[in-house]
Amino acid sequence: MEANQELAGKVVVVTGAGRGIGKQIAIGAGLRGAKVALVEVIEENLEATTKEIAAMGINIKGYLTDLSKESDVVNNFAKIEKDFGQIDCLVNNAMIHDSQDLISTSLEVWNRSLAVTLTGSFLTIRASLPGMIKRKKGCIINIGTVNAKTMIGSDAYSVAKAGLHALTRTVAVRYGPDGVRCTTVVPGTIATDAWQERVDRNPQIFEKLKSWYPLGRVGTPIDVTEAVLFLLSDKAQWISGSEFVVDGGLLAGLAPMYKMVEGSD
Ligand SMILES: NC(=O)c1ccc[n+]([C@@H]2O[C@H](COP(=O)([O-])OP(=O)(O)OC[C@H]3O[C@@H](n4cnc5c(N)ncnc54)[C@H](O)[C@@H]3O)[C@@H](O)[C@H]2O)c1
Repeated sequence: MEANQELAGKVVVVTGAGRGIGKQIAIGAGLRGAKVALVEVIEENLEATTKEIAAMGINIKGYLTDLSKESDVVNNFAKIEKDFGQIDCLVNNAMIHDSQDLISTSLEVWNRSLAVTLTGSFLTIRASLPGMIKRKKGCIINIGTVNAKTMIGSDAYSVAKAGLHALTRTVAVRYGPDGVRCTTVVPGTIATDAWQERVDRNPQIFEKLKSWYPLGRVGTPIDVTEAVLFLLSDKAQWISGSEFVVDGGLLAGLAPMYKMVEGSD
């Protein structure tokens, strides 16, 4: 990843950054000069990742937080502000994923999905906004999904994410006059550990999914991070409320279908 210093001096909070896309965003922001607060519920991953990123010379601190617990979020975000002085940017990346269909989904799984992915983001945004409003500047990025735009299964997860997409618009419009920008980044399939269960079931899954992607492959955490870093930077200072689709062309059409329709398959 190219490492200019366009985020120098900014404090960037990344949730769910113990692994996967969140970890890559934390590294990317740190390499561009940001101070990074890493928020994660799995202690082992939090410690290992914080240590690994600190060894790269990045100013980083880890905060063990269960985003579904209001007191955890309130206390840890207050700690982050105390440790770093302020929160300039927030990236809501944490989620839990469940691939069950609606009939098989227990109320517990449904509630947990909403609690972490949607309510957790509401809590982090609510905790970050007052400081941003006071300084008349702030940037919030919610990591959404193509599942929130079109039905691709994982029912509870997709509904929670669709709520998050709506939350972006609410924040952007209500707090835009206070200098706060809020956007959604909308990834397609990204090969991360979150897919492990599905890879175990179907080891060829990424290969098989390729035919849906006009650009011929699934994505990587770096593909998503590059978009996030642009949106975090002041280059994006007139961008708010919008959705940035990072999906190799997936949502642009029905790739395997059009050839069948025109007889070129
Ligand atoms: N991987 C994909 O194909 C894909 C596609 C579209 C969107 N996304 C989105 O990208 C983001 C990152 O996905 P990923 O593939 O890296 O997933 P991941 O499972 O590797 O990362 C999610 C992180 O959130 C953490 N987390 C879960 N519950 C938490 C809680 N209660 N409190 C704090 N942290 C918690 C997890 O421990 C994990 O580290 C997610 O928002 C996901 O919805 C991913």
